[in-house]
Amino acid sequence: MEFTIGTLVLVSFAVSLVALVVLIWTISRSEMRFTQADAHTIFEAEARGEGLDDPGTRPEQTGSPQGRDGDSLVPESSRRIILFVFATATLWLLLGSSFGLIASLKLHLPDWLNSVAPLTFGRMRTMHLNLVIYGWLSLGLMGLALWLIPTIFATRLRLPSVAMAGAVLMNLSVGAGVWAIGAGWTDGLEWLEIPWQIDIFIAISVFLFVVPLLVTARHRNVRHIYVTGWYYLGAMVWFPVLFIVANIPGLHSGVQQATVNWWFAHNVLGLWLTPLGVGAAYYLLPRIIGKPIYSYSLSLVGFWALALFYSQVGMHHLIGGPVPTWVVTLSVVQSIMMFVPVIAVAVNQHPLWLGNLGAFRASIPLRFVSIGALMYTAASMQGSIEALRSVSSVTHFTHYTVGHAHLGAYAFVTFVLFGALYYVIPRLVGRVWPFPSFIVAHWWLVVVGFAIYFASLTFGGWLQGKAMLDPTRDWMESMELTVPYLTGRSVGGSLMVLGHFAFAFNLIAILVGRGAERKAGAGLAEARAVAAPQSEGGN
Ligand code: HEM
Repeated sequence: MEFTIGTLVLVSFAVSLVALVVLIWTISRSEMRFTQADAHTIFEAEARGEGLDDPGTRPEQTGSPQGRDGDSLVPESSRRIILFVFATATLWLLLGSSFGLIASLKLHLPDWLNSVAPLTFGRMRTMHLNLVIYGWLSLGLMGLALWLIPTIFATRLRLPSVAMAGAVLMNLSVGAGVWAIGAGWTDGLEWLEIPWQIDIFIAISVFLFVVPLLVTARHRNVRHIYVTGWYYLGAMVWFPVLFIVANIPGLHSGVQQATVNWWFAHNVLGLWLTPLGVGAAYYLLPRIIGKPIYSYSLSLVGFWALALFYSQVGMHHLIGGPVPTWVVTLSVVQSIMMFVPVIAVAVNQHPLWLGNLGAFRASIPLRFVSIGALMYTAASMQGSIEALRSVSSVTHFTHYTVGHAHLGAYAFVTFVLFGALYYVIPRLVGRVWPFPSFIVAHWWLVVVGFAIYFASLTFGGWLQGKAMLDPTRDWMESMELTVPYLTGRSVGGSLMVLGHFAFAFNLIAILVGRGAERKAGAGLAEARAVAAPQSEGGN
């Protein structure tokens, strides 16, 4: 039998199935060296069950000997790097989402801004995608990793100057990559458009981030690696491998290139952004609420099921393409297997915030992270169902898929990142957010905006797919019927972009020194003030 990428996928599926069965068997026999008590490792003994931990809440712990809330573990040098990363990621968010809005408007106003090549749809769309994925999400989540890893491992960040070099190089590479796309210089593969010559620098910058994080993990002061650590350390290994293999020029061609292209494109979501988002939620939900996750053993099943089955789901994008049918079928089966990690994460995370709705109402960071976690469940389940041939034959090549992509990349990962930034930044600067009403505005603009965005593309895309498959209808009809839905997407997208500017305004203000100092007890009052703006400043 000839050894192809398909054979590799088949072998890895068989190995993964055996590994999952062995894992569940081992846990059921209590042979794992951890217990439910390990779910408490992120709390100091005296902090357990204390209640809401919002920015500024319990600031009396600033500089506590355990320092497990991260405050005392972040020396000035690391603080500057993390804030630099967050600030530049936010800049890319503003630029990237504005480009997304321009691209969206062009789909129903095709003659607008079409005389200059960089402003045409193909380039705007591609610049948007690369800016939000590499500039906003990857950079922002790496900034979060620089805070989270020392925090859960109760140690300080090692090699901070290397991480700073990574941050500067990543920013320069993203800027250069987007400039290249705007100038029409691309590798011509979806999600891999940045020219490989610039990708070399992105790979180096990721390496410069990963090394200090791994060295920090090596010097940990805790016996047990909390579940967030598994996801973060996994992602630190997976992403460089994915990125380098997919970007090596001339390594694959023809159908194999398409297979590797979708292997990469899907794994950027599943083995990079997903573990960083899920891992952050595993830390922030229990930390903010003050209660541990429901089942620590289940979190192990969730992590390993993701690690074992996610890597081959991407080929469902090639349904109907010139790829051996059995390879695609295997990918569809693996997509359905994703119900296992998704349900494991859902059972662990959702009861936590659903059972503490008072905290959910009082804390905006918690709201962002909880809804982000919920959207992870929704996006993953939708994705598994979308991978079925019967569903994909309707949704493939329609706006429905773009709605799904935003459910994952926006409503899940971006929401978790917003929540994390609202939680972490006051701890880094020692001040509370200066404009609580802007936080409330941000929340409602992105929630309402995204709901309009998603509903428009889901309904419009489904009707488009049905019309395309109907031989009695003219092709143009399938295009024309989408116009009101595309207009709806632009309305929703405008609200989202406005929300991003509200967030950026608050961020600039807190970075330039606005906002009261965090005082004992101020956080809870502040969180309540944010939840009920009429009482703003009243505590
Ligand atoms: C952090 C924010 C955002 C993230 C992470 C994000 C992510 C993505 C992703 C992953 C895609 C590729 C979808 C696919 O090929 O299936 C995409 C495409 C797109 N996004 Fe966004 N997006 C964001 C914000 C926005 C906003 C605010 C708008 C405004 C309307 C927007 C409009 C678009 C458009 C028009 C496309 C191209 C769709 C097409 O090719 O038909 N995005 N975005």
